[in-house]
Amino acid sequence: MSIKMVNVHKAFADKQVLKGFTLEIQDGTTTSVIGGSGSGKSVALKHIVGLLRPDEGDVWVDEDNVSRLDQESVYRMRRNVGYVFQFAALFDSMTIAENVGLGLRRMPEFPQEQVPDRVTECLRLVDLVGYEQRLPSELSGGQKKRAGLARAIATKPKYLLYDEPTTGLDPVTTAVIDELIVRMSEELGVTGVVITHDMKSAFRISDRVAMLYDGAIREEGTPDEIQSSDDRIVIGCVEGLPELMEGGGS
Ligand SMILES: Nc1ncnc2c1ncn2[C@@H]1O[C@H](COP(=O)(O)OP(=O)(O)OP(=O)(O)O)[C@@H](O)[C@H]1O
Ligand SMILES: [Mg+2]
Repeated sequence: MSIKMVNVHKAFADKQVLKGFTLEIQDGTTTSVIGGSGSGKSVALKHIVGLLRPDEGDVWVDEDNVSRLDQESVYRMRRNVGYVFQFAALFDSMTIAENVGLGLRRMPEFPQEQVPDRVTECLRLVDLVGYEQRLPSELSGGQKKRAGLARAIATKPKYLLYDEPTTGLDPVTTAVIDELIVRMSEELGVTGVVITHDMKSAFRISDRVAMLYDGAIREEGTPDEIQSSDDRIVIGCVEGLPELMEGGGS
């Protein structure tokens, strides 16, 4: 069982974003996808939950071929895949508790009287107990990210997808979020896919790191392997030296 994207192509109008993107996420691992801004990281992640459909190629979540599922099956599959959005994406008019409980309220088979307890349990995991009745606008950026994470784990997904979980946060808050991602993996056994610009985070939290470049995975390996790569494109991305990466991407 795993998440598998095989030879995925995706274009918007005449802009070809993914051009044969292939990546397998093994169960039980945390994989980071790194790559420049606009390289298609978010686009790739959205394919896994069926928010985008490939022009060509296949996306597998366990035994489901996501690109072939009807809408109802997509909703069923998504319960196994929590998504932590790039900009938290909390509902402004709802309290933190309501935001976190939203997925559970939409699951008729989940005993509804247990929703408040489950919400508290999730908030405890991200150290936000006591913030139940606050509105998102009353939280800091880091707290919002943690609330987004609590919401993503509420339905106990097997997979968690994180789109830039630490972007825009200071180093201390970043370390807190990194620790949480590791905790989701170790305590809840969640398989994680993390999109990030932050190389330090990527190498700290991941079992595997994959670099997206020019629409495809340029290199995939352990953090050590990626950090000692001799591919100038990979080195340019890891070291933040764009002059090494000229001639591709966007
Ligand atoms: N729904 C869409 N319609 C049209 N173009 C899109 C859409 N989504 C993404 N794109 C384009 O696809 C390209 C890749 O976007 P994407 O958001 O995946 O980049 P990214 O790697 O996540 O960048 P960042 O690190 O800045 O978040 C961009 O050129 C973007 O403008
Ligand atoms: Mg993005």
